Amino acid sequence: MKNAFDILNPQSRIMVLTGAGISAESGIRTFRDSGGLWENHPVDDVASPGGFRRDPKLVWNFYKQRYEQALSVQPNPGHLALKKLEDVMGDRFWLVTQNVDGLHDRAGNQNLIEMHGSLHSSFCTACGGNHPTGELDLEMELPTCPACNKMMRPDIVWFGEMPYRMDEIDALLNKSNLLLVIGTSGVVYPAAGFVMRAKYLGAHTVSVNLDAPDNDAFFDEIHQGKAGTILPDLLDSWIEKLS
Ligand code: APR
Repeated sequence: MKNAFDILNPQSRIMVLTGAGISAESGIRTFRDSGGLWENHPVDDVASPGGFRRDPKLVWNFYKQRYEQALSVQPNPGHLALKKLEDVMGDRFWLVTQNVDGLHDRAGNQNLIEMHGSLHSSFCTACGGNHPTGELDLEMELPTCPACNKMMRPDIVWFGEMPYRMDEIDALLNKSNLLLVIGTSGVVYPAAGFVMRAKYLGAHTVSVNLDAPDNDAFFDEIHQGKAGTILPDLLDSWIEKLS
């Protein structure tokens, strides 16, 4: 079986998909591992539009805590290895993340799509205006819009809602020679379906994950372990072939 090192060349285009596992070594809890966030917080209560309608204070309390935690941690060697890869590849590199913690942005990646939104952004339930979460009065139980004073909500894509920038992601999948998927359990769609699409479109597919993901049958190359340990060396070896 070929590996990425054999197929990469200076014209190659890479798309990366990340999930909660890449931020685990920064100290952010994943969702479905033992001790994961969804063990103590029913998804329906804190990650659905219906949950927000029923109890917006509970939902805001949950996201305020996550926002403050995200601000208190740092990008780890896995995030930094992806920034280094983008520096070498420029626009032939794109990073799509399901994470909302902002750590890829803080690591410096620019060709970045936060498909599930961001803890660092919020929008108004009335006028629709977007505002940085840091500009809201988070002392309020229900933060209000700086423009119209109505209730804000976290700019997070909840279950039942459509992820952001799917057309761009689709175009990237179509032209990528390699899809690298890191730290995601492969159970939440549409992201979990990217590897199958990439494989049928002829791309080389690579997984870096602590446990085997649910969709592991679609990967050509599997690296099992921690992203922060595996990625720096793996991506350095790719960079040799890409530059
Ligand atoms: N390095 C690599 N992989 C890791 C590490 C690590 N240090 N630690 C954990 N993992 C792996 C786990 O083995 C698991 O497969 O990361 C994966 C995390 O899976 P989930 O908790 O399901 O997170 P994710 O796949 O990102 O969830 C997808 O579900 O709840 C929604 O919207 C939320 O974006 C989230 C989506």
